[in-house]
Amino acid sequence: MLNFTFHNPTKVFFGKDAIRLIAGEIPRNARVMIVYGGAGARASGALDDVLAALRGYDLVEFGGIAPNPDYDLILPGVELAREKKIDWIVAVGGGSVIDAAKFMSAAVPFADDPFLLMDRAGAAIRQTLPVGAVVTLPASGSEMNSRAILSRKAYRIKKGVMNPLLHPRFAALDPTKTYTLPCAQIGNGVVDTFAHVLEQYLTYPAGGEVQDRLAEGLLHVLIDQGPKALVQPQNYDVRANLMWAATLGLNGLIGAGVPQDWSAHRLGYELTVLYGLAHAETLACLVPAMLAVRLPGKREKLLQYGERIWGLSAGGETKRLAEAIGKTRAFFEAMGLPTRFAGYGLTGVDIERVAELLAAHGMVDMGERQDVTLDMMRDILKRCL
Ligand code: NZQ
Ligand code: ZN
Repeated sequence: MLNFTFHNPTKVFFGKDAIRLIAGEIPRNARVMIVYGGAGARASGALDDVLAALRGYDLVEFGGIAPNPDYDLILPGVELAREKKIDWIVAVGGGSVIDAAKFMSAAVPFADDPFLLMDRAGAAIRQTLPVGAVVTLPASGSEMNSRAILSRKAYRIKKGVMNPLLHPRFAALDPTKTYTLPCAQIGNGVVDTFAHVLEQYLTYPAGGEVQDRLAEGLLHVLIDQGPKALVQPQNYDVRANLMWAATLGLNGLIGAGVPQDWSAHRLGYELTVLYGLAHAETLACLVPAMLAVRLPGKREKLLQYGERIWGLSAGGETKRLAEAIGKTRAFFEAMGLPTRFAGYGLTGVDIERVAELLAAHGMVDMGERQDVTLDMMRDILKRCL
């Protein structure tokens, strides 16, 4: 097992009516900005619950955050927060809203050009306003981690920013607020969570038995509960398990002390930027293709995954490896996500253009061994056509 420091300061309120508890975390005299997206925050009832919990507070609303939050559309919120002297931010939504709120929390007190904050290492972030996250879509894990994924569409950029100061102070997880999710978003959430676990698990053996067993536990839950959520949208325990799995999938726990990959995520960002694919749609295509192309480097963990997750113990190694990838693809499809670009009506992917963007963004030599070349990325993209 590799050395690690694990520190997760986010307090979690989980369950029915969990949103009621958030007021206890915010000082009575705070000026609070509530950040949300479109109809989802209202339809789910989460926004109403937040407004009820914070009755009597000095509140300002900033809605309209769209998926893959765009830097230029967030800036007016930063201005508003400064003007109203906001000192707390509560995000109500999925990963896009939470990430936007996290970025705003760094931008509001930042005296220089906020674009300087959009740096992967998050080096310019010295101070943030406290953020609380009320989740309506379990997927990103953003509610309990230190990342914010931002886009600047005008510049064709989508990138992650990481800094411990971006950890939300609290995460309120009420599974009943996910009942209104359309099937496509349920599928997206399950596939994204599955991919988060694989990015931290399906690398090479590093003696992390605890991490492996935790990751495998999450994968089993997703495979078992995910399809049920599609047909029983109001099954509380199904929603609760998916919600907690999504949070634990990317809160630092399963990735501490083991190698991590993240190449599928990084390549996916370029596809979102160029072709507008939703985050999980990129992953549904890229993960199976990535496993096939990078099979030699991932052989041992892929065999372990095949056996422990899909029960593949019979037959030769080559057959089991192919089956493990096939089962993964079939699961994503069963969650309603096509695993080839054509399934999203995307027929003209310009592989060279994607490779150019990756190179321009310095995304070469990625992966757990820093050995994923641009040529491998081209091959991966070809297999998604
Ligand atoms: O905007 P609203 O009206 O809320 O609608 C949203 C949006 O249209 C809707 N929705 C959310 N909750 C709902 C609901 N509709 C009905 N009922 C509800 N209860 O769902 C749509 C998608 O929302 P979005 O927030 O974009 O989805 P998700 O949570 O999948 O977040 C995706 C973003 O998170 C980033 C992605 O890159 C992408 O930008 N990620 C963030 C990570 C992090 N911070 O750690 C890691 C992830 O890998 C991921 O990259
Ligand atoms: Zn993701």
